[in-house]
Amino acid sequence: MTHWLKTTAQTLFSKNQHSSKLTRSSSIRHLTAINNLTVDIINSILEKSHFYSQIIKNKEPIPKVLSDKVVANLFFEDSTRTKFSFEVAAKRLGASVLNFSPETSSVNKGESLYDTLKTFENLGVDIGVIRHSDDHFVESLKTKLNFCIVNAGAGKFEHPSQSLLDLFTIKEEFKKLTDLTVTICGDINSSRVAKSNISLFKKMGIKVLLCGPESLLPPPQKLEDNCQVSTLKEAAKVSDVLMFLRVQHERHQAFELSIENYNNEFGLNHNIINLMPTNSIVMHPAPVNRGVEILDELVEHPKSRIFKQMENGVYTRMAILDWLYCNEE
Ligand code: CP
Repeated sequence: MTHWLKTTAQTLFSKNQHSSKLTRSSSIRHLTAINNLTVDIINSILEKSHFYSQIIKNKEPIPKVLSDKVVANLFFEDSTRTKFSFEVAAKRLGASVLNFSPETSSVNKGESLYDTLKTFENLGVDIGVIRHSDDHFVESLKTKLNFCIVNAGAGKFEHPSQSLLDLFTIKEEFKKLTDLTVTICGDINSSRVAKSNISLFKKMGIKVLLCGPESLLPPPQKLEDNCQVSTLKEAAKVSDVLMFLRVQHERHQAFELSIENYNNEFGLNHNIINLMPTNSIVMHPAPVNRGVEILDELVEHPKSRIFKQMENGVYTRMAILDWLYCNEE
């Protein structure tokens, strides 16, 4: 990965770029962090996700609510699911989609990220779906650009569209969000998915158990009040959802454990799956390290909703794109 992809937020904009005159409407909507969403908005996105899931399953005509809109996928970090499910979602709603690849862009001639994004603004982009390795870069763009910003994964900070699709998957499965316990197991400290999910589950009244190697878990004083630390064995017996996360070796060098030991202690194996209650399910945002956090043969176990999450990602991202432009509160 080239150096400019790892630039910190402080150096992404020069001083005069920070002070450039803003023309954006104050009513423009963004999705950058779960804490910016009310429970009503979250419920409305869940309902819209269900609406789109039914339309697509029944092969009914899809409302082209973005027919005159341009959506740009601006990914400065690798992605398969998020990037392409936003593309499918946008195209299904009638939008035109631009897929930006930094590796083949003028960033390689030294153009700054700010000038790159201002270019897309002036090309007439309506929605920018942005992933970046810096925790706060995407959030900082809300006051600098005149188009809707969607956080498609920001460093270790947040991945709100993943959380909304996870919540939608849980709601579709259990037909409720009350009296549920979700265990999140793995590299919690490095995971933007864990952070967004903990915030979202807290808002929706879902209890969270956290499992994993001690060095990859937040210290007790930093735990949200809907969270408790547990062993995976105890959590498996009482959880409606076991959600596993990838160990993100690219974000730290702090953790060393053999693959076999990791799966025995913190992964999904036959012992753990046999402890799970009858109607409980397994989730993972993917990509999955098969054999590490989940044994290869359990990735497609009847309890697994891993590929269902990917399908639901399209419906949820249709709902998110629709919400950005709908006039309802
Ligand atoms: N879950 C997720 O964000 O996957 P990608 O990195 O492939 O987008």
